[in-house]
Amino acid sequence: MARRALITGITGQDGSYLAEHLLAAGYEVWGLVRGQANPRVSRLRRLLGDVRLVRGDLLDQGSLISAVERVRPDEVYNLGAISFVPMSWEQAELTAEVTGMGVLRMLEAIRVCSGVSSSRTADPSGQIRFYQASSSEMFGQVRETPQNERTPFHPRSPYGVAKTYGHFLTQNYRESYGMFAVSGILFNHESPRRGAEFVTRKVSLGVARIKLGLAGELRLGNLEARRDWGYAGDYVRAMRLMLAAGAPEDYVIGTGRTHTVRELVEAAFSAAGLDWERHVVRDPSLHRPAEVDLLCADPKKARSHLGWEPSVSFEELVAQMVESDIRLLSDGGDPDQESSWP
Ligand code: NAP
Ligand code: GDD
Repeated sequence: MARRALITGITGQDGSYLAEHLLAAGYEVWGLVRGQANPRVSRLRRLLGDVRLVRGDLLDQGSLISAVERVRPDEVYNLGAISFVPMSWEQAELTAEVTGMGVLRMLEAIRVCSGVSSSRTADPSGQIRFYQASSSEMFGQVRETPQNERTPFHPRSPYGVAKTYGHFLTQNYRESYGMFAVSGILFNHESPRRGAEFVTRKVSLGVARIKLGLAGELRLGNLEARRDWGYAGDYVRAMRLMLAAGAPEDYVIGTGRTHTVRELVEAAFSAAGLDWERHVVRDPSLHRPAEVDLLCADPKKARSHLGWEPSVSFEELVAQMVESDIRLLSDGGDPDQESSWP
């Protein structure tokens, strides 16, 4: 029988790639969706007609229990979150509730539906396997470089703090109840489906608008921050590999290469034959109250235990995003309406 997966956050970037990946591997894929008229749900439906949907919200414990009871998944991927870091200062409590407490609610739904009342279960086989979308933002003000599974955390935003709670809770449910629960500590990953507010997509859309004569400038914040940027399609493969492993363990997923935002900007403008210095305007209002200056993964464990490797380089990724956005805008697509997804 086909394995059955339930994905929270299926309308987001990673949810769409993960659903595609699992469908191709023969899974029955269910997505948890909230709200009544979410244009992101129609976008997903257009792209992936085979996905089944169940209503629910990470803020609502009962809805998660009902969803797990109805779907009876073999695997749960908890990707749902408020994921835009600046928003986590503006709505810190909501971020804690969705990105942090949402993990607790999902784990509790699985625990209750699996009939685990207290202490460790005797037999971990046949359990619902749980993946938590943790983040390199937990490293924050980094204690060492590159960062691996043993690097201590020092989160620098309410988002990072909420993710750190979710990470430790996932470990705790594994230790307390013997659940197959893993935390994937993923570094930044991008694609043409990335939300327009994140810097890579803001830059690729900005370059496309300038190239097509629709805009003259692009306003950006801190150009010196360094990130380890990879391709989202590669990272969802790692999620499945973690749940297919013989034992539940946590993994760092990244490329091991780091670039400044300035290098990203240079690469994106040059992919379109443009000189970035003529168009980029530094805007101090876009700086964050506390910045994460440097992220760089040490993905050795994922390589040796899971056989995971990234397949798309930084340069290829940036060029693909720019090309895709030039095509989107030339065809009259509107990224703000989220009407089209490659
Ligand atoms: P994304 O595009 O921002 O998607 C976030 C998803 O969360 C959306 O589907 C959204 O659904 C859902 N969501 C928001 N509030 C919810 C709620 N109350 N209940 C249920 N679902 C809710 O994020 P992404 O880039 O795909 O990232 C996926 C996950 O990985 C997130 O947890 C993110 O924090 C984490 N992560 C991402 C990266 C990265 O570089 N992309 C790196 C490390 C970790 P709606 O359509 O209903 O709003
Ligand atoms: N968004 C944005 N907009 N970022 C800018 C801008 C701008 O105009 N100008 C400079 N930056 C800098 C930010 O200050 C940050 O240092 C860097 O670009 C990356 O910002 P984002 O693309 O917004 O991503 P993030 O690193 O804060 O968070 C993403 O990666 C995390 C994993 O490390 C998100 O996907 C998180 O959900 C994820 O956990």
